[in-house]
Amino acid sequence: MGKHGKKLSQQQQQKQQRRGRRAFSYNNEEEEEQQYIEQRDSEKNDDESQEEEEEEVEEEEEDNEISQSPSNNDVPSKFLLYQQSVQSPKGDISYLQKFFLMYVGGRMPLHLQEDFCGTALLSTEWLRTDARRTAIGLDLDIEALKWCMESNLKKVGADVYSRIFLFHGNVLEPLQATLVNFDPQDLGQRITSGDCQNGPDAVLVNSSTQGSLLGVSHKLMKDARLPERDIVCAFNYSCCCLHKRQELVLYFKYALSILNKRGGIFVMDLYGGTSSECQLRMQRRFPTFTYIWEQAEFDVLQRKTRISLHFNLQNQKKKLRHAFSYSWRLWSLPEIKDCLEEAGFRSVHFWMRSMPNSKEIRNIDGFGIGRDIKYEEVTSFQQQDSWNAYIVGVV
Ligand SMILES: C[S@@+](CC[C@H](N)C(=O)[O-])C[C@H]1O[C@@H](n2cnc3c(N)ncnc32)[C@H](O)[C@@H]1O
Repeated sequence: MGKHGKKLSQQQQQKQQRRGRRAFSYNNEEEEEQQYIEQRDSEKNDDESQEEEEEEVEEEEEDNEISQSPSNNDVPSKFLLYQQSVQSPKGDISYLQKFFLMYVGGRMPLHLQEDFCGTALLSTEWLRTDARRTAIGLDLDIEALKWCMESNLKKVGADVYSRIFLFHGNVLEPLQATLVNFDPQDLGQRITSGDCQNGPDAVLVNSSTQGSLLGVSHKLMKDARLPERDIVCAFNYSCCCLHKRQELVLYFKYALSILNKRGGIFVMDLYGGTSSECQLRMQRRFPTFTYIWEQAEFDVLQRKTRISLHFNLQNQKKKLRHAFSYSWRLWSLPEIKDCLEEAGFRSVHFWMRSMPNSKEIRNIDGFGIGRDIKYEEVTSFQQQDSWNAYIVGVV
């Protein structure tokens, strides 16, 4: 396959915008997309060229593989590459607001918990756009949480920093999670609201806490006084990291327990379709790197697969192989519904959209695909190559 990627014809772009795959990255920055489309100067849209490019990627994989270390300054962080190619926080937030208004209503959602938050990009965006909001992030990966503080939160300033609480720990043992973004001088100045679970207007952590800004404190989530959450979310298919049914129910019970008793929602996403149950490799070209989604064989007995995300950096001619790698159990929609109901959610709603056929989008340019396709609430949905869903549990 040649060096230049395929420039999508207008017709192809329109077709793909009608059907897109969220797992395979959306970003709302239209200027970036425009800039990128303008940069593309070659026109190649036949299957043959697609295959050539895939082969080229395979061959190149042996060369120039790099490891990511903090000292490797000329290489962009894998977290930055992930955020640029995978996440779409503005789109998620607008759906979160819509779901809250539809199923709860009567007040604005202000308090968010982002479970499996990674670099907490969604939380950062949530806080940035309304000064009354708070966010709590929880993740097992301390490196991602620290990167969030050093990169995402530094950019947005002290006000936002004072309204976010990042916890390092397991969603299955959330109360043992430890506070990460801790600055002793902040204590007492931290925001709070009238909705605190342990009484109104309490500070969020006790003033006896010792710690450092970028370290993990000894302050446990169970000792923190946090507002009741209006919304709890688990995005980018993170619930697939939980492999056992009892783990899923346990996690959903926890999510329910922290939601506001006056009304709240839990929202997660899921992908599926016939293409999700086989080996698959897809790639997207961005101005300075290519993002590759690799799906290993699918075990139908355990419903498990391994997803690996790789990045090829154009300028440095280097590769970040297995930048992220997840062992996932691909839950079915009815399994999720059963578990949410068993955990105690009053009602469960499915919002779905069709996605581009995986064969058509094995090699594509940049953002855009599927970005504008709307989710719709459904009670029945015919199987197809690829789909995406938001699942909403209501308190
Ligand atoms: C697919 S990533 C999603 C990251 C982010 N939510 C997003 O939207 O891109 C899954 C994240 O879940 C975290 N994770 C996996 N198992 C976990 C667990 N049991 N408890 C907390 N975090 C977990 C991983 O560290 C990783 O950051």
